Amino acid sequence: MALDEMLIEELGIGPVWVRRGAAALTPGEDERPPVAQVTEAGTPVAVRQEPTPAEPPSQPIEAPTRAIRHEAKPGDQPESDAPPLDAYDDLPWTDEAPVHVEPAVAEAPSDVHTLDWDALAERVANCERCRLCERRTNTVFGVGDREADWMLIGEAPGENEDKQGEPFVGQAGKLLDNMLRALTLSRQSNVYIANVIKCRPPGNRNPELDEVARCEPYLQRQVELVKPKVIVAMGRFAAQSLLKNEASISSMRSRVHEYRGVPVIVTYHPAYLLRSLQDKSKAWADLCLARKTYREALAALGVEQGAEKGGI
Ligand code: URA
Repeated sequence: MALDEMLIEELGIGPVWVRRGAAALTPGEDERPPVAQVTEAGTPVAVRQEPTPAEPPSQPIEAPTRAIRHEAKPGDQPESDAPPLDAYDDLPWTDEAPVHVEPAVAEAPSDVHTLDWDALAERVANCERCRLCERRTNTVFGVGDREADWMLIGEAPGENEDKQGEPFVGQAGKLLDNMLRALTLSRQSNVYIANVIKCRPPGNRNPELDEVARCEPYLQRQVELVKPKVIVAMGRFAAQSLLKNEASISSMRSRVHEYRGVPVIVTYHPAYLLRSLQDKSKAWADLCLARKTYREALAALGVEQGAEKGGI
């Protein structure tokens, strides 16, 4: 199949494409958790340890004002007979579950905002700031061009990412790579990809408040170092964490938000798109908005068309 045909199919902007053995969900089912997540979603962690600050205080960092926990509701099962999500990918929390907002916990001061790339990567690799370090195989720092104009932000590593130490290496990652390719973007050349959480939550459970708080400085520093012209937040968790809100993904889409001075576009999580084929075209529209936003950012900086670093 020719490349352009493949991309049209992959993005769902041609005839509807259904993965073998999977059933497309009906519109509106994007607010529901997948079968495989129902038992995990909302299950609280049994023991809440008091983390020991691992770093000497230097300058206070912003503590997140909220954390997000998904809770399963009775009757949340999708009506489709699609295979469990694990059949496609190893997905932590996703766009679909409702959220519960909790008050902030105080965060210990940190010097993360002073670190260069090497020091930051080493700090993350050795991080013991929360209990997620206890069961991880690898931290998942981020991948791609550290000077990219485009930054994509996901939620947290799944099983494959934990094994390989790289974000989005499962089926969702393949879809993501194909979507990026349609914009002449790739993690090998002109995109940087990172997650809000750097360690896999065991069993892909939802993150605890303090886990989000303790990981947040790493992503903040990555954004400061990359200095992207546009950020694409993938999935409800990533979007809510960045934008500090509890909005639904549909209300956050199709608008330009801002994270620390950088325009942010919100789109669906690629793992969600693997199950909800009818929303692939919406995700494509989101990427087109990101591209438009990127071009506008370049124009504002006086960069001529054709001289851009990332994306057509
Ligand atoms: N989902 C994410 O949000 N990030 C990954 O790295 C993998 C799956």
